[in-house]
Amino acid sequence: MQQEINFITRPGIIFGKGETSEIGCILKNKKMNKALIYTDKGIIKAGVLERIENSLRENKIKYKIFAEIETNPLKSIIRKGIKKTIEFEPDIIIAIGGGSVLDTAKAVAFYYSNPDLALLGETGELKGGYSKFPVITIPTTAGTGSEVTSWSVITDPDIPEKVSIGGTCIAPELAVIDPEMTLTLSPKLTLWTGMDAFIHALEAYLSSISNDYVNKIAYLAMEYVVNNLEIVVKDGSNLLAREKMLLASYLAGWAMENVGLGLVHGMSHQVGAYYNHHHGLLNALLLPYIIEYNYPACEKKMDDINKLFKTGNNKDLAESIFEFYDNLGLNTEILIERRDIPCMAKMAVENVNSKTNPRKPELEDVKKIYHRAFKVKDT
Ligand SMILES: [Fe+2]
Repeated sequence: MQQEINFITRPGIIFGKGETSEIGCILKNKKMNKALIYTDKGIIKAGVLERIENSLRENKIKYKIFAEIETNPLKSIIRKGIKKTIEFEPDIIIAIGGGSVLDTAKAVAFYYSNPDLALLGETGELKGGYSKFPVITIPTTAGTGSEVTSWSVITDPDIPEKVSIGGTCIAPELAVIDPEMTLTLSPKLTLWTGMDAFIHALEAYLSSISNDYVNKIAYLAMEYVVNNLEIVVKDGSNLLAREKMLLASYLAGWAMENVGLGLVHGMSHQVGAYYNHHHGLLNALLLPYIIEYNYPACEKKMDDINKLFKTGNNKDLAESIFEFYDNLGLNTEILIERRDIPCMAKMAVENVNSKTNPRKPELEDVKKIYHRAFKVKDT
């Protein structure tokens, strides 16, 4: 019997070296003449904004820059962003940065165009009936996938939890994906964000609602990461490897948009909200233990992933991942507090990402995984 499949293929994509220099021309063709740029201070310091500003000036596009976004964006920054957008009244928002910047810009655009909604009042998948404000995404890391997804992850410090909002009303209009924008990314962020891309692809591949077509794309994305991450961590100037990593990030983003993620994201979001560590790093630390946990539910698929690694024939996938980490120099230790584990585990089991995990997560098992993946301290 044929499979019944619905693909999500938004947004439009412009991919290639130097494409960000065309941004002013793209806006001019769309008859837009006022852009508000969302970014962070690190991006400005790295000098990667210059070519975009030049292109906007050459095409007589007025613009302003809002650079206050930080890692794991809080609800409060969305409020500030909306205020800035109301003051400037742009035709379009351009988000230039990693996942935090892109997620913030997408959320700001959504609430700006739906002013009657309470901030994070409704979460999860938002159904129709909302208006949409155009956003162009330009990723400066290869990992988030946020440049192509219709989801935004925001930290609500009152819970505390990272909450997701998603739907066609959040999806960007266009993603301009240019590998030259990632050349200045530090080895540490290259590593952590690259692992995020790998895990997006892996969790989509193992998703309980995946299909043959998404699997092909997800597998290709994993292959690109396994073959190129070590190269870009050791030599960030390798443009061809940077291009493959950015392609992996985009393809993995497309895959997760279609079939969801799994327990790695379900568990890491809680630790991110409690302790404000980097999302990609937390995912990487959880991954081998969740692979072991999920193995009985998807042995064949995990063995297929293992074939991507040099050691794949004589080790299991979790061991291959640990060896991959050794070669990449990924050995960071994260502390969590014992008293936080019950609450984080409960939220992880209920998290939207855990719903498509190949094995239904049990509360006690999730607590044990937190104990194994992180260093637990008593307070
Ligand atoms: Fe992620």
